[in-house]
Amino acid sequence: MAKIRPKIHFLCSACGDDFPKWYGQCPSCKEWGSLSEYKISHKKNGRKLETRESRSLASILAQEPGTRISTGLKEADRVLGGGLLSGSLLLLGGSPGVGKSTLALHICAGIDRKAFYVSAEESEEQVGLRARRLNVNSEHLHLSGENELDGIISHIERICPDLVIIDSIQTIMNSGLDSLPGSPSQLRDCGQRFLEVSKQKGVIIMIIGHVTKEGIIAGPKMLEHMVDTVLYMEGDDRYDHRILRSAKNRFGATHEVGIFSMNEEGLKEVINPSEMFLAERSKEIPGTCIYPSLEGTRPILVEVQALVSNANFGTPQRNVNGFDFRRLSMLMAVLEKRMGIVMGTKDVFVNLVGGLRVDDPAADLSILCAAASSAMDKAIDENIVLLGEVGLTGEVRSVSRLEYRLTEAKTLGFKEAIVPKGSFNERIKKIGLKIHSVRSVNNAFKILF
Ligand SMILES: Nc1ncnc2c1ncn2[C@@H]1O[C@H](COP(=O)(O)OP(=O)(O)OP(=O)(O)O)[C@@H](O)[C@H]1O
Ligand SMILES: [Mg+2]
Repeated sequence: MAKIRPKIHFLCSACGDDFPKWYGQCPSCKEWGSLSEYKISHKKNGRKLETRESRSLASILAQEPGTRISTGLKEADRVLGGGLLSGSLLLLGGSPGVGKSTLALHICAGIDRKAFYVSAEESEEQVGLRARRLNVNSEHLHLSGENELDGIISHIERICPDLVIIDSIQTIMNSGLDSLPGSPSQLRDCGQRFLEVSKQKGVIIMIIGHVTKEGIIAGPKMLEHMVDTVLYMEGDDRYDHRILRSAKNRFGATHEVGIFSMNEEGLKEVINPSEMFLAERSKEIPGTCIYPSLEGTRPILVEVQALVSNANFGTPQRNVNGFDFRRLSMLMAVLEKRMGIVMGTKDVFVNLVGGLRVDDPAADLSILCAAASSAMDKAIDENIVLLGEVGLTGEVRSVSRLEYRLTEAKTLGFKEAIVPKGSFNERIKKIGLKIHSVRSVNNAFKILF
């Protein structure tokens, strides 16, 4: 009898689409050189074909909704939208050494239910060492160094945990596939199987994934489409704090952040992040001001620093940490054209202190004023906070949730605020800050300098 040869397909590592032949450029996502070969084996991997009945919406609504399980960390619960939802599949990404395994271990200890930690990346002893350092001693936690997909699933069936941690998906393999762990076909297949297990058994599966140089989770984007929630852990070697963000959440709002500080005993929640970000604040020095940022539903005050100096080389430099580079160039153009401050021959450096990244245009006014303050060598009053989106004509546009931001500023002892006229209302007046509502950058400058 003729031997059945495995069928060869080509899988895109960027979008996860597959094709019967090879292309230099992926026809779906137009990425170059992302297609790699994978073999579809004819071996059946012993799975029974299960058909699922359809149900009426009314019968589903009559049922109790899935329960939320607290992770024991308030910061993590907030990012998840109130806790882990049973039967959900999560993906946690982050750069090497940022603390993904640490967070996962804290969650295992915190949920106070049966958890199963698959540490394919480290031996059980190494995880044990970390658990000792973090002071985690949970009877409900099972560990395994298994890296074979079917092996892991049979462990899950035997242990019946409420939470499974897969550390990391790049080291798990399905031996039925003819490719290495971490390859697009393995990631796709393993992700699909974990999805089936989580939905069928109602177990929460948290997959840890490595990130690429660009900071996105390595592997097909499809992995992100498959899961219910995508979390990213960010941090900087220079700082102790770590920020947990949700990039996608089917059961909660995105853009919430959780803030932790990392030390020898692991991750600790930061209850008042504004205090932490303003701890080493420079006062009465030209080039700094305070911006009341809003991360999700949570206000965080950050110090904006700018340094404007004469450019020594032909092309002036623009450098920014924590804010969009192109937006900074636009703000510098507004400063030059509308306010007459020459920026074309100046180097401009802007930093949001503490490593926070802000993509809200409400930060425009504070960045613009910090740069102007440095250029004119005039300090901004230390008791003032400022915010507003700046338009191309130099107008200051309204921002969202002004009340929350200003209440936080009041709590931290600030006295005045420069806000867009469009966002001003009666409730703002009652906060107890002296409010200057402005229509343009020009108005704001008259108050500040
Ligand atoms: N004794 C210690 N004292 C303080 N901090 C420590 C100590 N040991 C480890 N850490 C911190 O823990 C971090 C490693 O955490 P963890 O192993 O959870 O990261 P990870 O994201 O899982 O890394 P990987 O990508 O390698 O899996 C280190 O970068 C360091 O900041
Ligand atoms: Mg790890």
